[in-house]
This record gives sequence, C-alpha cells and structure tokens, in this order.
Amino acid sequence: MKQSKSIGILGGGQLAKMLCDSAKKMGYKTIILDPDSESCGKFSSNIHINKSYKDEEALKKMCVMSDVITYEFENVSIDSVEFIEKNSGNIPQGKAPLYISQNRVREKNAVSRLGIKTAKYIQVFNKKDLENDILKIGFPSLLKTCSGGYDGKGQWKLVNECDLENIKLENREYILEEMIDFEKEVSCLVVRGVNKEIVTFPVGENIHEKGILKMTIVPARISKALETKIVESSKMIIEELDFVGPLGIEFFIKGDEIYFNEMAPRPHNSAHYTMDACNFSQFDIHLMSILGLNFPEIKLLNGVVMLNIFGEDRTKVEKISESKEVKVHIYGKNLWKPGRKMGHVNFCGEDIEELINLVKSF
Ligand SMILES: Nc1ncnc2c1ncn2[C@@H]1O[C@H](COP(=O)(O)OP(=O)(O)OP(=O)(O)O)[C@@H](O)[C@H]1O
Ligand SMILES: [Mg+2]
Repeated sequence: MKQSKSIGILGGGQLAKMLCDSAKKMGYKTIILDPDSESCGKFSSNIHINKSYKDEEALKKMCVMSDVITYEFENVSIDSVEFIEKNSGNIPQGKAPLYISQNRVREKNAVSRLGIKTAKYIQVFNKKDLENDILKIGFPSLLKTCSGGYDGKGQWKLVNECDLENIKLENREYILEEMIDFEKEVSCLVVRGVNKEIVTFPVGENIHEKGILKMTIVPARISKALETKIVESSKMIIEELDFVGPLGIEFFIKGDEIYFNEMAPRPHNSAHYTMDACNFSQFDIHLMSILGLNFPEIKLLNGVVMLNIFGEDRTKVEKISESKEVKVHIYGKNLWKPGRKMGHVNFCGEDIEELINLVKSF
C-alpha cells in the first residue's frame, strides 16, 4: 500500500494550488508557506503557514512537518533553501535550479556552454554600458531586468536612438538581447527525478499577447525534426545542469534553428494543458520526481488548446460551458483584476485548427 507523505511547498499561488490538488488525488498531505493570507493555494492545501519565506520558525516547522519540500516559483530566496537544508529538511531540488534561473545572464551562460543557441546578449549595468553594447547587438533589441521579471514585465524594446536616449536605468543588473524575428514560440516541460530518470511532455506552441502567454497549442505545429531538437535540448539542459524536479524551458523557432529563451524550475503555465490532455499532469510528475518514484510513460490523449483566463475575461469565462472536451480551471483568487491570471481552460479534441477557431470565438 502507498504510504501517505506530507509535501511542503514554498509559495501558495496557483501552481501550489494545482500541485496540492494533484497531491490530494495521490493520497498525500500538503503544507504551503505563503505570506499572503489570501493566497489561492490555501484552498487546496491541508495546512497554510501564513508567514514570510524567510521566517526561520516557519521554515523549521516546514522541515518537521514535511517528508519532502519543493517550491512553486523561481524567486524563492536561496537563503531559505539553505536554511531548510541546514535544518535537516528534505528539499531534493536544492538551490542550483533557483540560483541559475533567477538571473537571465546566468541561465543564458549555462545553456550557451552546452552549445545551445540563444539570442545574442550582453550584461548591462548602466547607461554607458548600454550605449556601448547597443553597437554590438544593434536595433531592434530588448533590454530586460536580469531578475524578477515575469509576464513581460521589466522589459523595454529599443527600436532606435530615440528609445535609447529616453530610457532610464535603475541601479541594477540588466541584459540587452538581440530581438529574434521568430516564427514560433514553443516550450517543453522536462522533469528529472531524484533517481535521475528524465521525462518530457509534448512540446507546446505558445501564443503571447503583449508579452503574456495567451494560449498553448498541442501538438505544436512544427516539424518532427524541430520537435526532436527541442526535446533533446531540454533533456540535455536538465541533465547537464544536474537539476531535479520540473523545468519549463522556452524556445524561439526561426527556420531550422531553435533559440533558448528562458527556463523556470517549476510547473509551467504552458504545460497546464497536461491536466486534461495527458495521462499524467505536470503536477503529478513533479510530485513523483521529488518523491523518487519511477516515471510512467507520458501519453498525449488528444489535441488541446489551453486558453489563459485573465481578470478582464470574467464574463467570457461565464459563457464557456464545461463538457467532456472543455475543462475550466479557476484558481479562486479573490480579486478579478485586469491582467491577473485567474484560471485557464483546456479545449480538447482531434482537429487543432477547429479548436483554435473555437477558442478565438470566445
Ligand atoms: N530576444 C527576444 N526576441 C524576440 N522576442 C522576445 C525576446 N525575448 C523575449 N521576447 C518576447 O517577450 C516575451 C516575454 O519574454 P520572456 O519570456 O523573456 O519574459 P518573462 O517576463 O519571463 O515572460 P513570461 O513570464 O511570460 O515567461 C517572450 O515570450 C517573447 O514573446
Ligand atoms: Mg517567458
């Protein structure tokens, strides 16, 4: 008989919520740590420790109560992970995936070393650097904060000298990136277990609007050769960097080339489709990876289009009726604010173009 375990999660947002739902299904208990008293993860977890991520008493409590600890976002403080490790907490992913993915230069350096292409990039500390470096990267280019950005926040497009002149830099680290004129954006969720086993989910084709993921189409409408390249590169990244746990990796496609964009050591928005279109979801496999369980073979059961639901989509989502093919997931956040991710809908079926048209009709 399967032994019930307790899973500790640093973070209590929607990813933690869905991880808790998956854990519950598998017979495990969950403890989340989140400073937000209204975090949506609390509705699905058994225990919510409502303290800061750096609160030592709270972290000690997590260590005592959890058989295994994980994180649901990449900006968890490295110090908190070190504290857990020093206090005999079992956090198999450790700090390496956080350390590398928390900084865009560090992650691009790590991946470039493996021979995987990225957009040309340069680390920038001040306006003078920027004025020199733009000569090497050229227009148009993207200036991004090295850390803390998400959903396209902390990014500025530089199209000409005028943009360059107008931009004001804070006293922090930036990265200047060549703008890739890509044909498609795709992502791959790869997971490596404590036992070093690796599994990948099918590649997703991502459609962004204003820098934010709008929908993911699976199977991605790309050639078999590109799909293999993406899957093999993803496996190589997780293996060579010796990471454990889930890793969502984003790539751009231009012609026959793939360019690594960024990665996150957690379940990924673009893999939410797995909840209704695969035999196991990314959350199920995340749990298996940290518990040291053998991975099942991942099967795509049908085509799927995942549509993100934002605060402004409240009336739109009310019109969507659930069925065997249409699965609505609302995270239970209390405020429907424009631009805030409130849920997602998985539209399943065989004909991808038909599904895309259906999604566009909402
Ligand atoms: N070098 C680039 N060339 C062209 N487009 C880019 C480049 N970098 C980023 N973008 C566009 O901006 C989007 C957001 O960029 P990125 O993924 O780096 O940031 P993010 O804020 O972490 O986004 P998210 O949280 O949605 O993953 C990308 O999905 C892509 O559409
Ligand atoms: Mg991204």
